[in-house]
Amino acid sequence: MSDSSKTEKISVVFTRDGIKSQVETRPGSKLLVAAIKNKIEIRYGCSACRCGTCGVAVQAAAPDLKSSLSEMTSQEKDLLEKMSLPLDGSVRLACQARVLASGVEADLSFQSTYSPDDALEDEDDYYDDEY
Ligand code: FES
Repeated sequence: MSDSSKTEKISVVFTRDGIKSQVETRPGSKLLVAAIKNKIEIRYGCSACRCGTCGVAVQAAAPDLKSSLSEMTSQEKDLLEKMSLPLDGSVRLACQARVLASGVEADLSFQSTYSPDDALEDEDDYYDDEY
């Protein structure tokens, strides 16, 4: 059995305000991990699909998003839905989406376009301290 998966790298592009940063990561890495390990500034909170702060707009150069990112879990879909964010795969939670192939582009500017606080203020389990 080959251990090439341990050394294989794929590329991801993070964009913010039109500026692109291409980084390398291991296949299967979460977008959030790829960003943090490469010192890309990204908004996040729980890292566990609870707070909703890590949403990014995504697109794939090739062949498509379905084969370039892991499928959404029901938990991720539920959280996106609570925040009234698209469920068509164009927005993903960086702490959940795993990069499977090169060509994914994640737009971090999207993070300034929505506030999870407004949508999730009734989520007592996460916001106990504030509400
Ligand atoms: S960091 Fe909280 S949902 Fe992703």
